Amino acid sequence: MGIEKFSYDGKRVIVTGAASGIGQATAEVVESLGAEVIAMDIVETSVGKYVHLDLSDRESIESAAATVGGPVHGLFNVAGLGSSSAPDKVILVDFVGTRHLIDCVVPYMPRGSAIANVASWGNNDWRNQLDTVRPLIETDGFEAGAQWIVDNVDAFRGGAHGWQGGNAYRFSKEALTVYTFLKAHQLAPLGIRINTESPNATMSGLYRGFIDQMGGEEQAAAVASGLGGRRGEPEEQAYALAFLNSDAASYITGIDLLVDGGGGIAKKYADAANLPPMAEVSHGLAGA
Ligand SMILES: NC(=O)c1ccc[n+]([C@@H]2O[C@H](COP(=O)([O-])OP(=O)(O)OC[C@H]3O[C@@H](n4cnc5c(N)ncnc54)[C@H](O)[C@@H]3O)[C@@H](O)[C@H]2O)c1
Repeated sequence: MGIEKFSYDGKRVIVTGAASGIGQATAEVVESLGAEVIAMDIVETSVGKYVHLDLSDRESIESAAATVGGPVHGLFNVAGLGSSSAPDKVILVDFVGTRHLIDCVVPYMPRGSAIANVASWGNNDWRNQLDTVRPLIETDGFEAGAQWIVDNVDAFRGGAHGWQGGNAYRFSKEALTVYTFLKAHQLAPLGIRINTESPNATMSGLYRGFIDQMGGEEQAAAVASGLGGRRGEPEEQAYALAFLNSDAASYITGIDLLVDGGGGIAKKYADAANLPPMAEVSHGLAGA
């Protein structure tokens, strides 16, 4: 019992997307908590030991995993493309490549280790999309997943709000979320946990691209933000990810942890239930 449950002392972890935004913050946070960090990205990182990884390339994924070897106590799958990228690339990187990296790293993970996949608040309709994501989830391995994309990508062009990869982005994050729930069953007998963590608007390179796409800060905040219009910082996602892969979360597997400043479920529930407004909160001393 104690604070050491949150510690990464003696742990060797992989963080993907570590060159920027949430991935970089995660690498910095877990390094500060004692981890030996292997930082993977297509771009060289300023934190951890850099290993080149291109999640759209099967050989790159396999060679990165083999270079690292074992043991790996924590895998943080943070790298991803946003809705401004081409639909086929979004699905390849955000789901197919990420899944393949998991397959390649799991053999190096001892009992007690954990995987955290960054999904998105964009996954929030996953319950209604089970039949839509099932065919991709059922593909066996990288090549079959990549072929599924080639055969089905036309369904993702265009998209709501005119976002080029918007539909593909939501689809890949829904697929990643449902896959994570299923994978939790498969990994439980090995003593390995796996969860998703879902940010909404978080000030990173990817989010700045989203602001441009939406035509400005205000328009972007109207689509996704925390309560009161607040946007999150990468570090606020990083601490949640660090918790999920720490020993403090040893009974947590197969969940999606929303880190959304109250702008996701809390807002959706209040809107749906048409709840009465609450009395204003005062920060002053009672009766003062
Ligand atoms: N920022 C947000 O508002 C937000 C909201 C919801 C979900 N997310 C998710 O958070 C994760 C991190 O995004 P971010 O906001 O930090 O964005 P970011 O653009 O700052 O970082 C993404 C990183 O992924 C790397 N990357 C891209 N393609 C890659 C590839 N083929 N192989 C390896 N690495 C690759 C990039 O080089 C970059 O370093 C993503 O999965 C994203 O979908 C972000």
